[in-house]
Amino acid sequence: MVERVEIFEVGPRDGLQNEKREIPVAEKVALTDCLSRAGFSRIEVASFVSPKWVPQMAGSAEVLAGIARAPGVRYAALTPNMRGYEDAVAAKADEIAVFASASEGFSKANINATIEESIMRFLPILEAAKEIGLPVRGYVSCVTDCPFDGVTAPQKVAEVAERLFALGCYEISLGDTIGRGTPDAITAMLKAVTARVPAKNLAGHYHDTSGRALDNIEASLDQGVRVFDAAVGGLGGCPYAPGAAGNVATEAVHRRLTDLGYDTGLDADVLAEAALLARSMRSRQ
Ligand code: HMG
Ligand code: MG
Repeated sequence: MVERVEIFEVGPRDGLQNEKREIPVAEKVALTDCLSRAGFSRIEVASFVSPKWVPQMAGSAEVLAGIARAPGVRYAALTPNMRGYEDAVAAKADEIAVFASASEGFSKANINATIEESIMRFLPILEAAKEIGLPVRGYVSCVTDCPFDGVTAPQKVAEVAERLFALGCYEISLGDTIGRGTPDAITAMLKAVTARVPAKNLAGHYHDTSGRALDNIEASLDQGVRVFDAAVGGLGGCPYAPGAAGNVATEAVHRRLTDLGYDTGLDADVLAEAALLARSMRSRQ
Protein backbone atom coordinates (compact mmCIF):
# COMPACT_ATOMS: atom_id res chain seq x y z
CA MET A 1 0.00 0.00 0.00
CA VAL A 2 1.20 3.51 -0.81
CA GLU A 3 2.10 5.43 2.33
CA ARG A 4 0.38 8.74 3.03
CA VAL A 5 2.38 11.90 3.74
CA GLU A 6 0.32 14.94 4.63
CA ILE A 7 1.02 18.44 3.41
CA PHE A 8 -0.32 21.07 5.82
CA GLU A 9 -1.06 24.14 3.73
CA VAL A 10 0.12 27.36 5.37
CA GLY A 11 0.06 29.70 2.35
CA PRO A 12 -2.88 31.91 3.35
CA ARG A 13 -1.14 32.61 6.70
CA ASP A 14 2.63 32.11 6.53
CA GLY A 15 2.58 32.85 2.82
CA LEU A 16 0.65 36.07 2.87
CA GLN A 17 1.71 37.57 6.23
CA ASN A 18 4.88 38.98 4.72
CA GLU A 19 3.39 40.53 1.58
CA LYS A 20 3.90 44.30 1.34
CA ARG A 21 0.67 44.99 -0.57
CA GLU A 22 -2.46 45.11 1.60
CA ILE A 23 -4.27 42.09 0.22
CA PRO A 24 -8.07 42.42 0.30
CA VAL A 25 -9.98 39.80 2.31
CA ALA A 26 -11.80 38.71 -0.88
CA GLU A 27 -8.49 37.66 -2.47
CA LYS A 28 -7.49 35.66 0.61
CA VAL A 29 -10.91 34.00 0.63
CA ALA A 30 -10.60 33.14 -3.08
CA LEU A 31 -7.18 31.53 -2.52
CA THR A 32 -8.45 29.53 0.45
CA ASP A 33 -11.56 28.42 -1.41
CA CYS A 34 -9.40 27.17 -4.26
CA LEU A 35 -7.13 25.33 -1.78
CA SER A 36 -10.20 23.80 -0.13
CA ARG A 37 -10.86 21.91 -3.37
CA ALA A 38 -7.32 20.45 -3.49
CA GLY A 39 -7.81 17.78 -0.83
CA PHE A 40 -6.01 19.21 2.24
CA SER A 41 -7.12 18.18 5.73
CA ARG A 42 -5.70 21.31 7.34
CA ILE A 43 -5.20 24.83 5.99
CA GLU A 44 -3.79 27.69 8.08
CA VAL A 45 -5.70 30.78 7.07
CA ALA A 46 -5.58 33.25 9.94
CA SER A 47 -3.40 34.82 12.59
CA PHE A 48 -4.81 36.69 15.58
CA VAL A 49 -1.70 38.69 16.36
CA SER A 50 -1.23 42.40 16.96
CA PRO A 51 -2.03 44.30 13.73
CA LYS A 52 0.79 46.66 14.69
CA TRP A 53 3.20 43.75 14.40
CA VAL A 54 1.72 42.06 11.34
CA PRO A 55 -0.73 44.39 9.53
CA GLN A 56 -1.37 41.87 6.74
CA MET A 57 -3.21 39.51 9.11
CA ALA A 58 -5.63 42.16 10.40
CA GLY A 59 -8.58 40.78 8.42
CA SER A 60 -8.29 37.26 9.83
CA ALA A 61 -11.78 37.15 11.37
CA GLU A 62 -13.29 38.28 8.06
CA VAL A 63 -11.33 35.60 6.22
CA LEU A 64 -12.67 32.88 8.52
CA ALA A 65 -16.19 34.29 8.09
CA GLY A 66 -15.91 34.53 4.31
CA ILE A 67 -14.49 31.17 3.27
CA ALA A 68 -16.64 28.29 2.09
CA ARG A 69 -15.76 25.64 4.67
CA ALA A 70 -15.25 22.32 2.95
CA PRO A 71 -16.29 19.25 4.91
CA GLY A 72 -13.33 17.45 6.47
CA VAL A 73 -11.01 20.47 6.28
CA ARG A 74 -9.79 22.13 9.47
CA TYR A 75 -9.09 25.87 9.15
CA ALA A 76 -6.32 26.93 11.51
CA ALA A 77 -5.23 30.19 13.15
CA LEU A 78 -2.17 31.41 15.05
CA THR A 79 -2.75 32.70 18.59
CA PRO A 80 0.14 34.35 20.49
CA ASN A 81 -1.82 35.15 23.67
CA MET A 82 -5.27 34.88 25.30
CA ARG A 83 -6.56 37.85 23.33
CA GLY A 84 -5.68 36.04 20.10
CA TYR A 85 -7.20 32.82 21.45
CA GLU A 86 -10.51 34.51 22.23
CA ASP A 87 -10.61 36.14 18.81
CA ALA A 88 -9.81 32.81 17.11
CA VAL A 89 -12.59 31.02 19.00
CA ALA A 90 -15.06 33.81 18.22
CA ALA A 91 -14.11 33.52 14.53
CA LYS A 92 -14.68 29.74 14.69
CA ALA A 93 -11.18 28.55 13.88
CA ASP A 94 -11.19 24.73 13.83
CA GLU A 95 -7.77 24.56 15.42
CA ILE A 96 -5.22 27.01 16.71
CA ALA A 97 -1.45 27.18 17.00
CA VAL A 98 0.85 28.65 19.61
CA PHE A 99 4.30 29.60 18.40
CA ALA A 100 7.53 29.43 20.34
CA SER A 101 11.18 29.58 19.37
CA ALA A 102 14.20 27.44 20.17
CA SER A 103 16.33 30.60 20.23
CA GLU A 104 15.99 33.57 22.57
CA GLY A 105 16.89 36.16 19.93
CA PHE A 106 14.03 35.22 17.62
CA SER A 107 11.59 34.77 20.50
CA LYS A 108 12.21 38.34 21.60
CA ALA A 109 12.07 39.73 18.04
CA ASN A 110 8.93 37.83 17.05
CA ILE A 111 6.72 37.90 20.14
CA ASN A 112 8.55 40.23 22.52
CA ALA A 113 9.02 37.51 25.13
CA THR A 114 11.69 35.10 26.31
CA ILE A 115 11.09 31.43 25.56
CA GLU A 116 10.02 30.90 29.18
CA GLU A 117 7.66 33.89 29.15
CA SER A 118 6.11 32.69 25.90
CA ILE A 119 5.39 29.27 27.36
CA MET A 120 3.81 30.91 30.40
CA ARG A 121 1.59 32.88 27.98
CA PHE A 122 0.58 29.68 26.21
CA LEU A 123 -0.49 27.87 29.41
CA PRO A 124 -3.92 29.52 29.75
CA ILE A 125 -4.49 29.10 26.00
CA LEU A 126 -3.82 25.37 26.23
CA GLU A 127 -6.03 25.04 29.29
CA ALA A 128 -8.92 26.94 27.72
CA ALA A 129 -8.61 25.04 24.43
CA LYS A 130 -8.63 21.71 26.26
CA GLU A 131 -11.87 22.65 28.00
CA ILE A 132 -13.66 23.16 24.69
CA GLY A 133 -11.86 20.36 22.83
CA LEU A 134 -10.07 22.68 20.39
CA PRO A 135 -6.89 21.13 18.93
CA VAL A 136 -3.71 23.15 19.50
CA ARG A 137 -0.62 22.83 17.35
CA GLY A 138 2.75 24.05 18.60
CA TYR A 139 5.42 25.68 16.45
CA VAL A 140 9.07 25.78 17.35
CA SER A 141 11.02 28.26 15.22
CA CYS A 142 14.72 28.46 14.40
CA VAL A 143 15.28 24.72 14.76
CA THR A 144 18.70 24.79 13.13
CA ASP A 145 19.65 28.49 12.88
CA CYS A 146 18.50 31.83 14.25
CA PRO A 147 18.99 35.15 12.43
CA PHE A 148 20.09 36.71 15.74
CA ASP A 149 21.78 33.94 17.78
CA GLY A 150 23.39 31.78 15.09
CA VAL A 151 23.32 27.98 15.23
CA THR A 152 20.64 26.40 17.46
CA ALA A 153 21.55 23.39 19.60
CA PRO A 154 19.40 20.33 18.77
CA GLN A 155 18.89 19.73 22.51
CA LYS A 156 17.29 23.16 22.87
CA VAL A 157 14.80 22.33 20.11
CA ALA A 158 14.05 19.01 21.79
CA GLU A 159 13.49 20.74 25.12
CA VAL A 160 11.01 23.31 23.76
CA ALA A 161 9.24 20.71 21.59
CA GLU A 162 8.86 18.35 24.55
CA ARG A 163 7.42 21.09 26.74
CA LEU A 164 4.83 22.11 24.18
CA PHE A 165 3.92 18.47 23.58
CA ALA A 166 3.63 17.77 27.33
CA LEU A 167 1.39 20.83 27.71
CA GLY A 168 -1.07 19.39 25.21
CA CYS A 169 -0.05 20.43 21.70
CA TYR A 170 -1.11 17.50 19.51
CA GLU A 171 1.61 18.13 16.94
CA ILE A 172 4.87 20.06 17.00
CA SER A 173 5.83 21.83 13.79
CA LEU A 174 9.58 22.37 13.55
CA GLY A 175 10.44 25.56 11.72
CA ASP A 176 13.60 26.19 9.74
CA THR A 177 12.52 29.81 9.80
CA ILE A 178 15.34 31.23 7.67
CA GLY A 179 15.94 28.18 5.50
CA ARG A 180 19.56 27.76 6.52
CA GLY A 181 19.21 24.13 7.58
CA THR A 182 21.07 21.38 5.75
CA PRO A 183 19.96 17.74 5.61
CA ASP A 184 22.69 16.91 8.17
CA ALA A 185 21.58 19.64 10.56
CA ILE A 186 17.91 18.66 10.17
CA THR A 187 18.80 15.01 10.81
CA ALA A 188 20.76 15.87 13.97
CA MET A 189 17.91 18.08 15.19
CA LEU A 190 15.30 15.38 14.52
CA LYS A 191 17.33 12.70 16.25
CA ALA A 192 17.33 14.88 19.39
CA VAL A 193 13.62 15.73 19.11
CA THR A 194 12.37 12.20 18.36
CA ALA A 195 14.11 11.00 21.52
CA ARG A 196 11.50 13.08 23.39
CA VAL A 197 8.48 13.49 21.08
CA PRO A 198 7.26 10.68 18.80
CA ALA A 199 7.90 11.27 15.10
CA LYS A 200 4.18 10.78 14.40
CA ASN A 201 3.52 13.98 16.38
CA LEU A 202 6.03 16.08 14.45
CA ALA A 203 5.86 18.16 11.29
CA GLY A 204 8.60 19.77 9.23
CA HIS A 205 8.16 23.47 8.40
CA TYR A 206 10.97 24.43 6.12
CA HIS A 207 11.50 27.76 4.43
CA ASP A 208 13.26 27.49 1.10
CA THR A 209 15.66 30.42 1.37
CA SER A 210 18.69 28.35 0.32
CA GLY A 211 16.83 25.96 -1.98
CA ARG A 212 17.36 23.00 0.38
CA ALA A 213 13.85 22.55 1.75
CA LEU A 214 13.04 19.53 -0.44
CA ASP A 215 16.29 17.82 0.56
CA ASN A 216 15.47 18.61 4.18
CA ILE A 217 12.06 17.01 3.73
CA GLU A 218 13.73 13.86 2.38
CA ALA A 219 16.06 13.79 5.38
CA SER A 220 13.03 14.17 7.66
CA LEU A 221 11.20 11.30 5.96
CA ASP A 222 14.19 9.13 6.89
CA GLN A 223 13.63 10.13 10.54
CA GLY A 224 9.94 9.14 10.39
CA VAL A 225 8.30 12.56 9.92
CA ARG A 226 5.14 12.29 7.79
CA VAL A 227 3.68 15.82 7.88
CA PHE A 228 5.17 18.83 6.11
CA ASP A 229 4.03 22.44 6.04
CA ALA A 230 4.17 24.21 2.70
CA ALA A 231 2.78 27.32 1.03
CA VAL A 232 1.23 27.18 -2.38
CA GLY A 233 3.21 29.10 -5.00
CA GLY A 234 6.13 29.31 -2.54
CA LEU A 235 4.54 32.35 -0.90
CA GLY A 236 5.90 33.62 2.32
CA GLY A 237 8.47 34.60 4.85
CA CYS A 238 8.46 35.91 8.38
CA PRO A 239 8.45 39.67 9.01
CA TYR A 240 10.56 39.21 12.15
CA ALA A 241 13.19 36.94 10.62
CA PRO A 242 15.49 38.90 8.31
CA GLY A 243 16.33 36.70 5.35
CA ALA A 244 13.32 34.39 5.63
CA ALA A 245 12.21 33.74 2.06
CA GLY A 246 9.13 31.84 1.04
CA ASN A 247 7.96 28.58 2.48
CA VAL A 248 8.72 25.60 0.34
CA ALA A 249 6.11 25.51 -2.45
CA THR A 250 3.26 23.05 -1.90
CA GLU A 251 3.23 21.95 -5.53
CA ALA A 252 6.97 21.18 -5.40
CA VAL A 253 6.58 19.16 -2.19
CA HIS A 254 3.66 17.29 -3.73
CA ARG A 255 5.78 16.49 -6.80
CA ARG A 256 8.78 15.33 -4.77
CA LEU A 257 6.66 13.17 -2.46
CA THR A 258 4.83 11.63 -5.41
CA ASP A 259 8.16 10.91 -7.14
CA LEU A 260 9.36 9.21 -3.96
CA GLY A 261 6.27 6.97 -4.05
CA TYR A 262 4.18 8.63 -1.32
CA ASP A 263 0.53 9.59 -1.60
CA THR A 264 -0.43 13.15 -0.56
CA GLY A 265 -4.12 12.81 -1.39
CA LEU A 266 -3.92 16.12 -3.26
CA ASP A 267 -5.24 17.02 -6.70
CA ALA A 268 -2.29 18.28 -8.78
CA ASP A 269 -4.53 20.23 -11.18
CA VAL A 270 -6.23 22.19 -8.41
CA LEU A 271 -2.82 22.78 -6.81
CA ALA A 272 -1.53 24.22 -10.07
CA GLU A 273 -4.57 26.51 -10.24
CA ALA A 274 -3.99 27.66 -6.62
CA ALA A 275 -0.27 28.22 -7.32
CA LEU A 276 -1.15 30.48 -10.27
CA LEU A 277 -3.56 32.42 -8.10
CA ALA A 278 -0.98 32.74 -5.30
CA ARG A 279 1.71 33.98 -7.65
CA SER A 280 -0.63 36.53 -9.22
CA MET A 281 -1.46 37.82 -5.72
CA ARG A 282 2.20 38.28 -5.04
CA SER A 283 3.06 40.13 -8.22
CA ARG A 284 0.03 42.45 -8.24
CA GLN A 285 0.85 45.96 -7.01
P1 HMG B 1 3.69 43.36 22.72
O1 HMG B 1 3.87 44.69 22.05
O2 HMG B 1 4.79 42.86 23.57
O3 HMG B 1 2.39 43.24 23.62
O4 HMG B 1 3.34 42.30 21.59
P2 HMG B 1 1.27 44.16 24.14
O5 HMG B 1 0.45 43.28 25.00
O6 HMG B 1 1.89 45.40 24.73
O7 HMG B 1 0.40 44.56 22.86
C1 HMG B 1 0.78 45.53 21.93
C2 HMG B 1 -0.46 46.01 21.20
O8 HMG B 1 -1.01 44.91 20.46
C3 HMG B 1 -1.57 46.47 22.13
O9 HMG B 1 -2.31 47.45 21.43
C4 HMG B 1 -2.43 45.26 22.29
O10 HMG B 1 -3.76 45.53 22.59
C5 HMG B 1 -2.34 44.62 20.92
P3 HMG B 1 -2.22 49.00 21.87
O11 HMG B 1 -2.62 49.05 23.29
O12 HMG B 1 -0.79 49.37 21.65
O13 HMG B 1 -3.17 49.66 20.89
N1 HMG B 1 -2.50 43.17 20.94
C6 HMG B 1 -3.26 42.49 20.07
N2 HMG B 1 -4.05 42.91 19.06
C7 HMG B 1 -4.69 41.95 18.37
N3 HMG B 1 -4.58 40.63 18.63
C8 HMG B 1 -3.81 40.19 19.63
C9 HMG B 1 -3.11 41.15 20.40
N4 HMG B 1 -2.27 41.04 21.44
C10 HMG B 1 -1.90 42.30 21.76
N5 HMG B 1 -3.70 38.88 19.88
C11 HMG B 1 2.52 40.22 20.72
C12 HMG B 1 3.20 40.92 21.87
C13 HMG B 1 2.66 38.74 20.91
C14 HMG B 1 1.05 40.64 20.69
C15 HMG B 1 3.21 40.68 19.40
O14 HMG B 1 4.60 40.49 19.53
C16 HMG B 1 2.74 39.95 18.19
O15 HMG B 1 1.58 40.06 17.80
N6 HMG B 1 3.63 39.16 17.55
C17 HMG B 1 3.27 38.34 16.44
C18 HMG B 1 4.41 38.26 15.46
C19 HMG B 1 4.00 37.35 14.31
O16 HMG B 1 2.83 37.17 14.03
N7 HMG B 1 5.01 36.78 13.61
C20 HMG B 1 4.77 35.93 12.50
C21 HMG B 1 4.18 34.62 12.87
S1 HMG B 1 5.36 33.46 13.51
C22 HMG B 1 6.09 32.76 12.10
O17 HMG B 1 5.83 33.19 11.01
C23 HMG B 1 6.96 31.55 12.27
C24 HMG B 1 6.27 30.26 11.88
O18 HMG B 1 5.84 30.31 10.53
C25 HMG B 1 7.23 29.07 12.06
C26 HMG B 1 8.60 29.28 11.41
O19 HMG B 1 8.66 29.58 10.21
O20 HMG B 1 9.57 29.13 12.13
C27 HMG B 1 5.03 30.00 12.74
MG1 MG C 1 7.11 29.94 8.81
